[in-house]
Amino acid sequence: MIFVSIKMYAEKTIAVARERKHEGVIDSPDAVAEVGGICGDKVKFYLKIENEIIKEVKYETPGCMAAVASCSTLAEVAKGKTLDEALAITPKSLIEGLGLPGIKNHCAQMAVVALKNAVGNYRKK
Ligand code: FES
Repeated sequence: MIFVSIKMYAEKTIAVARERKHEGVIDSPDAVAEVGGICGDKVKFYLKIENEIIKEVKYETPGCMAAVASCSTLAEVAKGKTLDEALAITPKSLIEGLGLPGIKNHCAQMAVVALKNAVGNYRKK
């Protein structure tokens, strides 16, 4: 993990990370993917999918506040989207929406890659 002072985080990031919405595991998921980041942390996404729609999203990460906030926001945005719509979500939208410091951009990228890989794994089935 790459540590930064909490003062570097926007209030929104801190609030979202503390809520930890959508954190957890889905039993019998339709798709799963785990991605490791340059910092040594990981993100794992679980999806429930029906008719190309993401019905449920959960994540696990031992990563930093930026990773938790990114995963929570990404899960919230992706839930209810089609797979193609979910694939169009960018790290930039998370970074800008949360106001992440540049040193933490990779945490948002890791979250997006994990979600996209989960969709990719589902489509390979
Ligand atoms: S520094 Fe590793 S997940 Fe953020």
